[in-house]
Amino acid sequence: MVLETIDLIGNLKPGDGLLADAFRRPITYLRISVTDRCNLRCTYCMPEAGLPWIPKAEILSFEEIERVVRAAASVGVRSLRLTGGEPLVRRGLADLVAQLAAVEGIDDIALSTNGLLLAENVRELADAGLRRVNISLDTLRADRFERIARRPGLERVLAGIEAALAAGLAPVKINCVVMRGQNDDELADFAALTRERPLFVRFIEVMPVVENAAAQAGEYVSSDEILARLRTVDRLEPAPGPGGNGPARYFAFPGAPGAVGVISPLSHDYCERCNRVRLTADGRLRLCLFGDYEIDLRTPLRQGAARDDLAALLHGGMLIKPERHHLRLGEASSRMRAFSEIGG
Ligand code: 5AD
Ligand code: SF4
Repeated sequence: MVLETIDLIGNLKPGDGLLADAFRRPITYLRISVTDRCNLRCTYCMPEAGLPWIPKAEILSFEEIERVVRAAASVGVRSLRLTGGEPLVRRGLADLVAQLAAVEGIDDIALSTNGLLLAENVRELADAGLRRVNISLDTLRADRFERIARRPGLERVLAGIEAALAAGLAPVKINCVVMRGQNDDELADFAALTRERPLFVRFIEVMPVVENAAAQAGEYVSSDEILARLRTVDRLEPAPGPGGNGPARYFAFPGAPGAVGVISPLSHDYCERCNRVRLTADGRLRLCLFGDYEIDLRTPLRQGAARDDLAALLHGGMLIKPERHHLRLGEASSRMRAFSEIGG
């Protein structure tokens, strides 16, 4: 569903309250995709040849992103996450972080990255105001990394994790998409990381998308099974999360500085606690992870919409934010691919 954005201006009083959807969920968290491009080709996300990339002219400029964030902050958004594609392939990302950190009301900026370019950029990002980082990593074995991501890079990702810890970003979270027969024998190795370092390893159920439609049902491992298998390693206690906006449930081994978490995007308590909307790289506000619930912000941005006009559009978007997604196991959603959507 795409609403005619222009109809909404005028029907809604701008800036007259904080964002909340029709189900009274306060929306305080905005995910911002800064590019659809990526330097990896994970099999569950993209075809080997890449996607038909969005033309450069359609990608929001930093200035346009900042205008959306100013509007969002004026109606209660406090926390941002930069995603992609791979956000670090967008040149000058630290400049955007600095711009957004300066927006009144924004008190938390996070990054979701595949980690390939993190080691060389993390210091500048932290100096610009980045607070925390989620790093995608599905395997600790170089040969498997190359098979799952279709490109080499494990050493660079591991260096990125170390650099993030050294730069003082906290918490550092690792997102691991679990796939039966591919990496599900590494659960204990990943969990072991949380005993040595203050790392939060989140295991994510693999979601059906066009790219993995054939394989997903066979690869799917439920959060319950993941936890049951981790409990065979050692005692696991429910643990407080590291903070942030994530939908994960956390558990820790006795005395561990970090924790493991599970994320079940297919379950509906994922939806119940939803506090987020997403801005696509080409300026659409997406109201739900799945389905076509979105409004166009790029047109009004490029027509010179003022902050309060944009805030009115955000309020309007709330009207079409659905209560929950209706995706089930084995049903492919093309919408999710390439958007680093779940983790975080
Ligand atoms: N299933 C689960 N998570 C996915 N991601 C992308 N595609 C999928 C999928 N099919 C998310 C994961 C991953 C990030 C890059 O995007 O969080 O770590
Ligand atoms: Fe890139 Fe993330 Fe998709 Fe992998 S899952 S191809 S790292 S966007």
